[in-house]
Amino acid sequence: MKTTPTDAAPPSDQPEGMSRRELVAGGALTAAALATSGAQRAQAEERSSVAVASANGLEAVGRAVAQMDAGISPVEAAVHGVAVVEDDPDDVTVGYGGLPNSEGVVQLDSCCMDGPTMRAGAVAALEGFRHPAQVALQVLQRTTRVLLVGEGAARFARTIGFEEENLLTEKARKIWLYWKANMSDRDDWIPGPGQTEDSDVQWFMNTYGPVRPTGTINLCAVDGNGDVGGTTTTSGLFFKIPGRVGDSPLIGAGLFVDNEVGAAGSTGRGESVIQIAGGHTVVEFMRAGKSPEAACLAALERLVQATRVPYLLDDKGRPSFNVKFYAVNKAGETGSATIWSGGRHAVCRTGSKPVHLDSAYLYERDPK
Ligand code: GLY
Repeated sequence: MKTTPTDAAPPSDQPEGMSRRELVAGGALTAAALATSGAQRAQAEERSSVAVASANGLEAVGRAVAQMDAGISPVEAAVHGVAVVEDDPDDVTVGYGGLPNSEGVVQLDSCCMDGPTMRAGAVAALEGFRHPAQVALQVLQRTTRVLLVGEGAARFARTIGFEEENLLTEKARKIWLYWKANMSDRDDWIPGPGQTEDSDVQWFMNTYGPVRPTGTINLCAVDGNGDVGGTTTTSGLFFKIPGRVGDSPLIGAGLFVDNEVGAAGSTGRGESVIQIAGGHTVVEFMRAGKSPEAACLAALERLVQATRVPYLLDDKGRPSFNVKFYAVNKAGETGSATIWSGGRHAVCRTGSKPVHLDSAYLYERDPK
C-alpha cells in the first residue's frame, strides 16, 4: 500500500467538539490521502513518476523515482532522495560537510511539503543533525506545526531519536579558516603557512572563486497518481552570520507544492527568493497556464524587477548574483531556469536513467 505522511493523524488542531479518535475513526483526517480508487490505481500503472532537482541531485532524482515507483509518497521519496547529498562530505553546500557559518558552526535549513494534504514541515538553523530534510519530515508527520528553529529544532530531533554529530569536516574547517584569514586585512587573522596551497582550499577557490555563493538541493516529485511533493535542504550561505536563515526552510520561498498544480523550489541567493515568495510564485504562474520552464523564467523576471539595491546590481543594472528555479507540474512536465546562463538541472522518470539538462536563463554570461 502507498505510504503517505498522512497515515499518522496529527495530534491536535481538530475541529472543536470532535476528539482525535473520532476524527480518525470517521476517516476525516486520512480520507483524502488514502482514498485511492481502483480506477486511479489502474491509471497510475500507466503513468510514470518524475523528479526534478538542482544539478547536484542526479543520484537523488534516481532514488526518488525508484521510491515512488515502489509506492512511497512523493514527499517521502524526495526526502529519502536528497539524503544521498546530505551524506556526501564533498558537497559543501548541504548536510554533513556543509560549509559553516562565520563562527565555524554548520547550521542547516530544510523544508518539505506534501501535495495531497498541503501539510509542511521545516527546520532552520539546525545544528548537529546531518539530515535536516528528515527532521523536517518528522515535523510534518508528528506535529501540528510547520517550522522549528535553532535549539528547539535540535531538541525535537533528539527527542525523535536522530543521531547527533559534529558536521564540520576537516575539509570544511580548512576552507572556513582560509576564508577567515583572507577575508580582510583589518581583522585579527593572517594567512597560515601553506594554507593557500592546501588541496582542499585550492579546490574551493577553483570551484567557487572568491565570491561567497550559496548551494542547496531542491527536489520536486510527482508520482504515477499525479500526487506532488518536494523538499529543499541546505547549509545555506557560506560563512553566514550565525542564525541567518535563507529561503530553503521557508514554505512559499525555497519550496512550494500544490497538488492541483505542481511543485517548485529554488537554489541560489535566498534573500532574493524570499522577497518574491519564489516557489509560490512559480507555482502560481503554472496555475495560470505556463509550462514549468516558462513559469520559472517569469518568476525570475519578477525577481529581477524586485532587485533594486545598488550593491546587488552589476554595471549594466543586472543582478550580480544567481538564483535558479526548478519546477514540475502535475502532468509530469519539468523545467528549470536561472538568472545567468550555464545552469543545469537533474531529471529522472520511471524507466529512464537520471540525466542533466540545460536550464533556461535570462542573461548570457559575459565571456571571460
Ligand atoms: N538558497 C539557499 C540559501 O540562500 O540559504
